[in-house]
Amino acid sequence: EKGGYDYFMLKEIAEQPKAVADTLLGRIDGAGSLTLDEVRIPANVLREVDKVVIVACGTAFHAGLIAKYAIEHWTRVPCEVELASEFRYRDPILDQQTLVVAISQSGETMDTLMALRHAREQGAKVLAICNTNGSTIPRESDAVLYTHAGPEVAVASTKAFLTQLVACYLVALYLGQVRGTKYADEIRAVVRDLASISGAVERVLETMEPVRELARSLAGKNTVLFLGRHVGYPVALEGALKLKELAYMHAEGFAAGELKHGPIALIEDDLPVVVVVPSPRGRSVLHDKIVSNIQEIRARGARTIVVAEEGDDAVVPYADHLIRVPVTPTLLQPLVATVPLQVFACELATARGNEVDQPRNLAKSVTVE
Ligand code: F6R
Repeated sequence: EKGGYDYFMLKEIAEQPKAVADTLLGRIDGAGSLTLDEVRIPANVLREVDKVVIVACGTAFHAGLIAKYAIEHWTRVPCEVELASEFRYRDPILDQQTLVVAISQSGETMDTLMALRHAREQGAKVLAICNTNGSTIPRESDAVLYTHAGPEVAVASTKAFLTQLVACYLVALYLGQVRGTKYADEIRAVVRDLASISGAVERVLETMEPVRELARSLAGKNTVLFLGRHVGYPVALEGALKLKELAYMHAEGFAAGELKHGPIALIEDDLPVVVVVPSPRGRSVLHDKIVSNIQEIRARGARTIVVAEEGDDAVVPYADHLIRVPVTPTLLQPLVATVPLQVFACELATARGNEVDQPRNLAKSVTVE
């Protein structure tokens, strides 16, 4: 059942290139246009949308945080992302021009279901991004874009997350396409880049042995911090969540720019800090800022574990450990940068003797509020 792997999680990590390709399959035509027939919300309704609200929990919430960057950039429509468990209790502002996107692997998460019910009662249109055919969340939504990750058995979400990201990018690009955007050329280029992203994920997986080795060497640590900027910030949150749930370690993700506003006080000698570095090509200002963040924490004793694009030489002098990921457009980087963090958490859990597929106190599908 585990296809020769010790754990479902390892199998599911390895399945990610295929899961990503399957989620793209049939959704982009030969001319590079998106053909999301499943999004049954008519184009004229999508053109009127004046706000996108994403609701989700846990890892799916992190996919939503990344989606916000893509949606706002490519469509110029304001996008909010909210934890489903908080959403309806604060009387959110919703109407017929709000598009609510509910992201859920299982399609049964009660918090997310309650949030979408609340949204529909207020007249909003709901689009579900879901991995489980015929589950409750898609059944109760106006439309559904299925992720084709295949069944995910391990409690910790891996391939579902990557395919949620792909689905979010498709929604963002589709909204841009339907509504017209000044980024039409960029959108065409990104659609082309998406077509090769499965291969990029594959290449990451081929280079994971040093990450496993590093993880094993940190098995005795109590705390690991994660830093990122822009879309690397939710990747940092996701890396920290994986480590908490699998390795039962104290792990925290921060926006690197927030360091100086408090978290830098946590840095002490030999504290492992994972830093997700944005591409030096795209938003180079961010890249330079994060490189100085790495210098700052290293000067205070941190052991820096740097996830950076191939060819990014600026980080080399400050990286105690360097994890390379393939070159991608900035917005797509989470698809490659998350993978080493999954492997890292899985290996640390194993090294600490934890049950990888069934972490303590957790359930795969959370059907209570
Ligand atoms: C973390 C994890 C959880 C789920 C969350 C939402 O690895 O698996 O945080 O992401 O419980 O579940 P779904 O996506 O089924 O709504």
